[in-house]
Amino acid sequence: MYILSVIAAASALLRVASATEVFAHFMVQNTYAYTVDQWKTDMTSAQQVGIDGFSLNWIPPDCDTGLSWMTDRIDDAFTAAESMGFSLIYSFDMSYSDCAVFWNTTFMAGMINNYAGSSAAYRWNSNLLVSTYGGDQVDEYGNDFFQELKDTMNYFNNPISLAPALTTYSLGAQTDPTSEAASLLSDYSSIDGYLNWQAWPLNVLSNLTVTPDQAFQSALKANAKTGPYIMAVSPWQYKDLNDGNPLDSWVAYSDTLFPDRFKELISNDAIQPDIIELLTWNDFAESHYLRDLPDETDTSATDYVTLGDMGAYVWGQNHAPWRIIAKYYIEWWKTGSAPAITMDQVVFWHRIHPKATVCTGGSETGVRNYLFPEDAVFAWALVSESSTISMSIGSNQYWTFDADGSGPSMGMVPFPSDVSGDGVTPQVSIMRNGEVLHYANSSMAVSTDCSYQNFNPVVGLVGDGTNTGT
Ligand SMILES: *[C@@H]1O[C@H](CO)[C@@H](O)[C@H](O)[C@H]1NC(C)=O
Ligand SMILES: *[C@@H]1O[C@H](CO)[C@@H](O)[C@H](O)[C@H]1NC(C)=O
Ligand SMILES: *[C@@H]1O[C@H](CO)[C@@H](O)[C@H](O)[C@H]1NC(C)=O
Repeated sequence: MYILSVIAAASALLRVASATEVFAHFMVQNTYAYTVDQWKTDMTSAQQVGIDGFSLNWIPPDCDTGLSWMTDRIDDAFTAAESMGFSLIYSFDMSYSDCAVFWNTTFMAGMINNYAGSSAAYRWNSNLLVSTYGGDQVDEYGNDFFQELKDTMNYFNNPISLAPALTTYSLGAQTDPTSEAASLLSDYSSIDGYLNWQAWPLNVLSNLTVTPDQAFQSALKANAKTGPYIMAVSPWQYKDLNDGNPLDSWVAYSDTLFPDRFKELISNDAIQPDIIELLTWNDFAESHYLRDLPDETDTSATDYVTLGDMGAYVWGQNHAPWRIIAKYYIEWWKTGSAPAITMDQVVFWHRIHPKATVCTGGSETGVRNYLFPEDAVFAWALVSESSTISMSIGSNQYWTFDADGSGPSMGMVPFPSDVSGDGVTPQVSIMRNGEVLHYANSSMAVSTDCSYQNFNPVVGLVGDGTNTGT
């Protein structure tokens, strides 16, 4: 009996320990100004969170003229990653069809072969892992295209494990998980693994569940697939292309999505993905960036980015403290036990206009699902000892919740009903033994005076550490 239970315990440990890779989805299109050193800076910052690699999303470089620089940046990314023990995979963006240029398997195979010998090229078992965004909604691609890519890679003796994100199935699985997962496997015999892209509730005011994740993972298993099940985790979703098309402006119910989804990972034995993919490191326009804000003004900065209209809801809206939440749960997921809490940190976030505000620019009241988010400041507290977290905004003063060293706790304070044009600034404090230990104002006020419809939150930190998420 004794020996049996030791073996059972050891294999339970092994199971947890084998599932440890975390990738972050990375938009190569935002790296025009990057140098090798800038890549290293991003990789260092990612490693501090427990991220092991980037999944490099890019569109065909001949799609728009002048995108050929992307292959040079990928070259730099591998150089940087090799020196940092960091991993890279490709995520071929196969959703983009605005231009008449599409990926072809010769070019893709060439790019995979280029770095097949690199220490930074991530392998699943012994095969190079390759992912996509899409591939099922553009006629030029599909199962035969994927099979051709795999056959080509076999021919070059660099076999791949293919784990694409096929959005039709991920969207469908939100309402019909079992049958969508079954269709995926019968329609796409070429795939080895799967990335379930749908990390946000789909046009519903309800919390995301892991049921679709479970369905995809068991379908892979039932079909004896050897590739990874990749589970997507994201903090937010809001985009406004401001092009007059009501389909191009939306927000997903994301108020407490990030900690909620992470909690499923560490508390729910029913879902144990092979890999986690954070959506995203630097997709600013969809409001789910975890990276520090890039440089907006200095054109010689190595992370200089232009965002056009979409900058209206990104500039000034730091998300970096969300990385504190990611770091905590990733360490828990990797080690199988709750990390020791040594600091006092409260991460808080809020949108900057009440949802009913009509701004003078952007898609005004046309933002799909705009009634879903709650008008509130949300907080996630991680403190080493019993504390009271107090939150105020305008006339809603001193809303408190308790936190202690046993793990994270959450609280909120609603926006007051009388938000003015001048705005009201959220204040958050950590109190212990009747004393205020830490106190901070948000970097932005909530106001009704706005020049652009904006459902992207700003994220702050009160307590130990810095706004850059450490
Ligand atoms: C394949 O794609 C590459 C990169 O977009 C392009 O340069 C090349 O011309 C394409 N080849 C064919 C045969 O279309
Ligand atoms: C989502 O879950 C949170 C708990 O984190 C809960 O407070 C909230 O009410 C839920 N939202 C809905 C729409 O059920
Ligand atoms: C917060 O804002 C108030 C009101 O503007 C100001 O008096 C106070 O000094 C600020 N506190 C901190 C810590 O920035």
